[in-house]
Amino acid sequence: MNPPDLGGADPAAFRALYLWADDPEREFWPGPVQNQVRELIAPGPGRLDPDGLRHEITEWARAQTSRFRARTGLPAVRRIVLNCAPLALKAGAWLQWLVGAGDADRQLSMDVLALYAEDVGVGRPGEDRAARYRRLMEGAGLAGRIVPEDRLAADPQIADRSFRLAALLLAASRYPAAFAPELLGADLCLRWVGVPPPLHAVRDGLDRSAATARTWSALDLGASADRSLAAVRTYLRENPGDDRPWRAVRWTLDELRAWSDELYDLSGRALDPAFEMAELLRHRAREASAYHHDYRLEGRTLAEWFGAGADQMLGALGRSRLVRPGRPDASPLLRDLIGAGGPMFRVFSPEDLAVIGRWIASLGEAAAPEAAAPAPAALSVAPSAPERAVAREAAPEDASEAAPATVREAYRRLLQRDDSPAVRGYALDYARGWLERSRAGIERMKSPPRRWEPGTLRRWLRDQHDRHDEQFRAGESLAVPPRESVIDTFLQLAPLNLIDGGWLGGFTDHRHAVGDLGRVLFATYWDELGNGELPLNHPLIYRDLMREMGFDLPSTASREFAEWPGFRDESFELPVYWLALSRFPRTFLPETLGLNLAMELSGVGGTYRRDRAALRTHGFSSRYADVHNTIDNVATGHSAWAVDAIDCHLAALAERSGIEAAADAWLRIRTGFRSLRPPARGAPAPSR
Ligand SMILES: [Fe+2]
Ligand SMILES: [Fe+2]
Repeated sequence: MNPPDLGGADPAAFRALYLWADDPEREFWPGPVQNQVRELIAPGPGRLDPDGLRHEITEWARAQTSRFRARTGLPAVRRIVLNCAPLALKAGAWLQWLVGAGDADRQLSMDVLALYAEDVGVGRPGEDRAARYRRLMEGAGLAGRIVPEDRLAADPQIADRSFRLAALLLAASRYPAAFAPELLGADLCLRWVGVPPPLHAVRDGLDRSAATARTWSALDLGASADRSLAAVRTYLRENPGDDRPWRAVRWTLDELRAWSDELYDLSGRALDPAFEMAELLRHRAREASAYHHDYRLEGRTLAEWFGAGADQMLGALGRSRLVRPGRPDASPLLRDLIGAGGPMFRVFSPEDLAVIGRWIASLGEAAAPEAAAPAPAALSVAPSAPERAVAREAAPEDASEAAPATVREAYRRLLQRDDSPAVRGYALDYARGWLERSRAGIERMKSPPRRWEPGTLRRWLRDQHDRHDEQFRAGESLAVPPRESVIDTFLQLAPLNLIDGGWLGGFTDHRHAVGDLGRVLFATYWDELGNGELPLNHPLIYRDLMREMGFDLPSTASREFAEWPGFRDESFELPVYWLALSRFPRTFLPETLGLNLAMELSGVGGTYRRDRAALRTHGFSSRYADVHNTIDNVATGHSAWAVDAIDCHLAALAERSGIEAAADAWLRIRTGFRSLRPPARGAPAPSR
């Protein structure tokens, strides 16, 4: 899929952008899309003081809610639910790439990830905001509109405008270095709004079993507004004088205003049966004209009527013998042609039939109904994603965009989420090369077992734990390594352990974080970072240990850190592999699942206890080792989750594609497991 061209006048381009920006492995590098998004995220005039903005937003939301209360008919309610979907199904997704692996020990990162974790319902399967919205749609009889999910972007009953804000925010999220302040401001505006006013207004018209109090609270972004404000304030403390977050609040409000006004109009028109009927004809005309060259109506073939336009045809149809005004059941159109047994049976969905029935009923006794007025241009809806596209994103010509020359430079550049052709190519080659090394001679590897079957891994996991315990006891009598050696070991592990969880960074992507499998991996990642509590943040705990050992290291994402002379080059090799792999959460999913298991299991019961003894003997805090020995435990901790993730993936694969496919994936998972310590060139083993 080529990047969409937002530069033209085609409002349907936002549908394409919505889909384009949703793929986590797309090539998102600086180019036309970023530039066009920059031009469109432009704040209008108006005040920028926080209290004033908040007041303005709250007042606007209240006024809109009471205005939309008039929209009570089912067609209007459904139209509103559909047109809120593009944003509601991506609630919070604009935050997905704001935190890079090197920033995960900062307050702002924790603020942002805490907001995001709430949005994706971390630790509560099925409770993310998107899932709740899907249930609301099901309750409104709209389930079929989102299966498959990408179908939404082609839905003719959703206005182009309803994709615009969501698409721009999703696209901006792929360029976090360029748009961080704008994303924070947009987030705050949306949380100050709470539930989208049109939706809020029609709550009573929604299915009660779907619009429960829990669903409603999941759809209400307002509950986390204070945290979002805290994130903006943290950003402003770090970037004093930068007014971009406030300008983005204003821009988002302007976007919402325009959207809401258009939706008010559209949902009003949806109450007119002739509008929906004309819309139906318009969307089916192209396909239908192929079959209707012979049938004549008022002297013209139906194919000619389709060519003349939906509104004229609607008039002719209403006057024809196919329709008995006011009597849907007696109308040959419904009774003979498209009903069961008719020549057009199943051409229309039950929903379409209801539209046709409502239209005929609305004709009453009038013999010649007025054709519905054509929709104004602003309301135009397009049946499919636009064809317009520019060529693939031009690669930046900046000379600094050469591939990383050293593993240290690769580390620094891979810590940034922003992509470029050079970094992407480097990451892909690096991950592939590492995995190739990990695959060499794998047929001789006995553990994990060569065959996967449901339940085997849990048993194997417990055996591994027993083995770690035995090894630990056998070595207990051995002397603890000397102080200098312990310090050196831990120091060289700093580039790795200061990005704890980095191998899972790709799973912050919204699609993954709310997915059946990805949510487990996101939950693990979020645990590594202390679930937003800095005292529990693993990278910070390690930084404290480094300080105790006498090293006040530069911040992890900085050039100084990557070039710090106290580290050996090879100490960056495994971390770079983690980061390279994490760029491709889908391509390397099986390998990541295997690496994740190796990581989470490696220290439990054995190494962590040895580390604890070594650290304590030399007077250092053993907190880093202690916290891991518990949080990674094999019964309920990360290593158990890692096994669950693998079982979940393989069982689904076996079910979907057969046992052969599961066996292939299992080999790739084992390769990923081995990639923590591949043969040949040695990489530093982590302390776990
Ligand atoms: Fe950890
Ligand atoms: Fe862990």
